[in-house]
Amino acid sequence: MSGIKVAIAGIGNLASGFVQGIQYYSKNSEENIAHPRLGGYEIKDIKIVAAFDIDERKVGKDLSEAIFAYPNKMPKVIDVPEQDVPVKMGPVLDGVAETAEDVLKVASEKECDVTEELKQSGAEMLIIATPSGAVQSCEAYAQAALNAGIGVINATPTPIARNTKWAREFRLAKLPLLGDDLQSQAGGTAFHKGLIKLLNDIGVKVADTYQLDVSGGLEGLTTLDFERRNYKRSVKEHSIKQALDYDFEVAAGTTDYLEFLGSTRIGYYWVEGKGFLGQTVKLDIQMESIDGSNGAASLTDAVRVMKIALNKVATGPLVSPAPYLFKAPPVVIPLDKTPQAFDDFITGKVLL
Ligand SMILES: NC(=O)c1ccc[n+]([C@@H]2O[C@H](COP(=O)([O-])OP(=O)(O)OC[C@H]3O[C@@H](n4cnc5c(N)ncnc54)[C@H](O)[C@@H]3O)[C@@H](O)[C@H]2O)c1
Repeated sequence: MSGIKVAIAGIGNLASGFVQGIQYYSKNSEENIAHPRLGGYEIKDIKIVAAFDIDERKVGKDLSEAIFAYPNKMPKVIDVPEQDVPVKMGPVLDGVAETAEDVLKVASEKECDVTEELKQSGAEMLIIATPSGAVQSCEAYAQAALNAGIGVINATPTPIARNTKWAREFRLAKLPLLGDDLQSQAGGTAFHKGLIKLLNDIGVKVADTYQLDVSGGLEGLTTLDFERRNYKRSVKEHSIKQALDYDFEVAAGTTDYLEFLGSTRIGYYWVEGKGFLGQTVKLDIQMESIDGSNGAASLTDAVRVMKIALNKVATGPLVSPAPYLFKAPPVVIPLDKTPQAFDDFITGKVLL
């Protein structure tokens, strides 16, 4: 089985978890992963061939060094040998939120030609892992991938796979598109949906629910920006609402940034509903996770899904595997049907 050549834009905490994950699972057992093999591919088959960022502490460095540069806080789990992949200067555009201006230091290097870099690298797909709410940057990378003739995985909340304009362009170019907004392995949104679905399945009618979210990563600081926070919130809240077939109040999104939390994200979940005889049921629960590795787990699946799509020449948005891996897929399907839809894509029962 040949390798999977991947480019990545945004060398933040998610990228750090991803690069470390590839290294880790090429040496260690298959513990703690949902899919050791997907379509015959293992995590160790993934090879990063190009990388882009805009921060002066990452641009010009080898990827193996850039993933550990501040403001990244994803813990170092494993030594990563030199990758021979220098991080190239991408287009800055709206990559720096006002709230992150003191932390993200824009490099003075000249912007590279992303399309050309992608072509030269031999990448088959581009992962977009730029900050939440950086719509222009995300679209610029999607366009560069289109120009280079490669697939796109959009980990960010920007509408690409669920945007009809981009969907049409990728279909016309006969290229696959996977997104939007990656759902982490033990992700807040997935967990929240599962909780309320469980209550609903045992007869409790959910009335109100919220998710408070505190973290110390750059993404947490970025989404303190009012507009970006509202944007991310609307994606999360819309996704949570899809879990039940009736209306209920929901609030979910970044609540605060605490530098000392590092890569740790703490989610507080609260649900109120009515059970038998209309009596109140309340649930108050906390989940703590490491952001970068949590997202990277799903990203290793997404890359292998994209490779399978390229092999079978599936073009345009991938509708069956997306709801299992992303918070804002192009087509929403009921929560309990997402694993089957994912499997149907992997086993070839459906093309898209
Ligand atoms: N658990 C996760 O990590 C997770 C889960 C789901 C979705 N996501 C999404 O993935 C994206 C990345 O998450 P993260 O935690 O790594 O964020 P991060 O803030 O740690 O990293 C973002 C990186 O993008 C870089 N950047 C900013 N503007 C850029 C530009 N124009 N071109 C290239 N690079 C640019 C920054 O310098 C930084 O290195 C976000 O949109 C986030 O919502 C992450």
